[in-house]
Amino acid sequence: MTDKQNSLFVFIEENNNDINLSVNIGKIHLENPVIMCSGTFGYGEEYGQFYNTALLGAVTTKSYSLKPEKGNPPPRICETPAGLLNSIGLQNDGIDCFIKKHFPEAERRGIKLILSLFGSDMDEFSELAYKVSEIKDKIVAIELNLSCPNVKEGGIAFSSVPADIKKIVRSVKRILKIPVIAKLSPNQHNLIEAAVAAEKGGAEAISIINTVVGMSVDIETFKPRLANVTGGLSGPAIKPIALAKVYSLAKEKILPVIGMGGIFSVEDALEFLIAGASAVGIGTANFIKYDIGVTIIDGLREYLKRRKIHDINEIIGRLEV
Ligand SMILES: Cc1cc2nc3c(=O)[nH]c(=O)nc-3n(C[C@H](O)[C@H](O)[C@H](O)COP(=O)(O)O)c2cc1C
Repeated sequence: MTDKQNSLFVFIEENNNDINLSVNIGKIHLENPVIMCSGTFGYGEEYGQFYNTALLGAVTTKSYSLKPEKGNPPPRICETPAGLLNSIGLQNDGIDCFIKKHFPEAERRGIKLILSLFGSDMDEFSELAYKVSEIKDKIVAIELNLSCPNVKEGGIAFSSVPADIKKIVRSVKRILKIPVIAKLSPNQHNLIEAAVAAEKGGAEAISIINTVVGMSVDIETFKPRLANVTGGLSGPAIKPIALAKVYSLAKEKILPVIGMGGIFSVEDALEFLIAGASAVGIGTANFIKYDIGVTIIDGLREYLKRRKIHDINEIIGRLEV
């Protein structure tokens, strides 16, 4: 490297250091606000072959249950004009396998992990929390996927019942004593009530949104394109819905909000931050641009530099209405 290149490099480094991208989501500290969404990034093992996944703010794992789950029969993925429909059915290889196999690999790669959990009834959430005790000090937080059905109560989603949200958050928090994030569904009407319940249970933050219920029909075969008939819609089609939910929740200042849904570019991420999200989740975009996470981190830094803003926190929730 020539002296000129070297001094340019030092200049860029110093300039980058001038800009703060770190955020605090309650007690959760992240070096930058870019999180990979549950179910769309594995544990970083595959993506780690292409770039340094330790640079990401955090990676949320696929949602884990006590026992392995086979998921729904295929076809379980279907493209739509502006998004992806999936009915994976929470397939996972069980929490024991995560702890023994995937966690050590993620730890070796220096990934900041948010562990996503789901249960088929209240007790399963507590049992999962006990299992996680052995690695709890090495993860950033637990995310509770509350969009899943409560099997013992007729299959109604936990997120639709504020009392359930409070109970689950409280029990997991009591067992693990680390930050707990409640992930809520856009398919529920009582978002504010649900967030208040999560806060009362001791949650650190709310993640929204999970996928929006949707379906697609093959007019030649008269069959639904997903074997499960309906599935969850993600991607650009849901971005305006997600933004509105993030804004409506963030302005109530109940808990910090992690916003996700259709974020495909740095401009999308900025919209969520300005609307009030303390951090952003990138999901479906990972299937299209494998390095979208680091591209967005770089883009945030560039945006702040261009606007002469030194701290990302200065734009969070600064929507002018
Ligand atoms: C294939 C696929 C699998 C997903 N699996 C999970 C999951 O296991 N747990 C969860 O909480 N959300 C899951 N999600 C939802 C995402 O985490 C995210 O909330 C949603 O896709 C919206 O973000 P996006 O539009 O950027 O993808 C999944 C989404 C997709 C597309």
